[in-house]
Amino acid sequence: MKKILKNKYDIQQMRLSGKITADVLTMIKNHIYPDISTQDINNICHHYITKIKKAVPACLGYKSFPKSICISINDIVCHGIPDKNILLKKGDIVNIDVAVIKNNYYTDASKMFFVGKVNTKKKLLCKITRKSLYQALKCIKPGIKINNIGKKIQKYVESQKLHVVKEYCGHGIGNNFHEPPHILHYYNKYDCLKMQAGMIFTVEPMVNTRSQYVECMKDGWTVKTRDGGCSAQYEHTVLVNQKGCELLTHQKNEKIPKIFINN
Ligand code: MF3
Ligand code: CO
Repeated sequence: MKKILKNKYDIQQMRLSGKITADVLTMIKNHIYPDISTQDINNICHHYITKIKKAVPACLGYKSFPKSICISINDIVCHGIPDKNILLKKGDIVNIDVAVIKNNYYTDASKMFFVGKVNTKKKLLCKITRKSLYQALKCIKPGIKINNIGKKIQKYVESQKLHVVKEYCGHGIGNNFHEPPHILHYYNKYDCLKMQAGMIFTVEPMVNTRSQYVECMKDGWTVKTRDGGCSAQYEHTVLVNQKGCELLTHQKNEKIPKIFINN
């Protein structure tokens, strides 16, 4: 089993990596508009990560994924492949999922963007998904069982009559893209591992409007809702510290704090 706790050096490096991932998401906001292709968005991110930040896009070549980031529009749940023939249009909600490697340290984050004016239902889906992630962040501190994360997310999402996707989970992250532990976004009573200061993992709930069910397309990557309903996702890479947690992928323009003190 891989080591689950990070040391001071690891944490320093993860902060550097996380800042790059966060900066990509901040930078790309100005490039989200009608008629831009998802390939162009991919290329802007690729250039920024490699040339400006001297880092490596973690998705590119990961299990043969062909592009540098994932872009998932409306009923695409996750792992949308950037393509020159896929153009953003007014009213779309778009998830951009960025993972980078800097000095051999991985971080991973994603958020939703709106293309022009978006209808109330889609806006609400995004807001609730984002808030479900924040509810989970408020319960992260040493000694608390990891299954509290999923419990909080599921409880909040279902109270809003929306649906948590069960097939994908958060994950430990560090010198590898995916490390133990698994972070479920729904409650599992058998998952009794406790959080410890020095753990770093992602929390990345995917939430659907109509039902939880998803299907993978023939390209082997693109995951869609089965019923054509919309899906949203927000993700952060999170360090558990003595009093709560630190968002390693916190973006300057976010409404929530970078450091959570969870007494
Ligand atoms: N960010 C996703 C994750 O959490 C993406 C992995 S699939 C990839 O694992 F191929 F796009 F990298
Ligand atoms: Co992830």
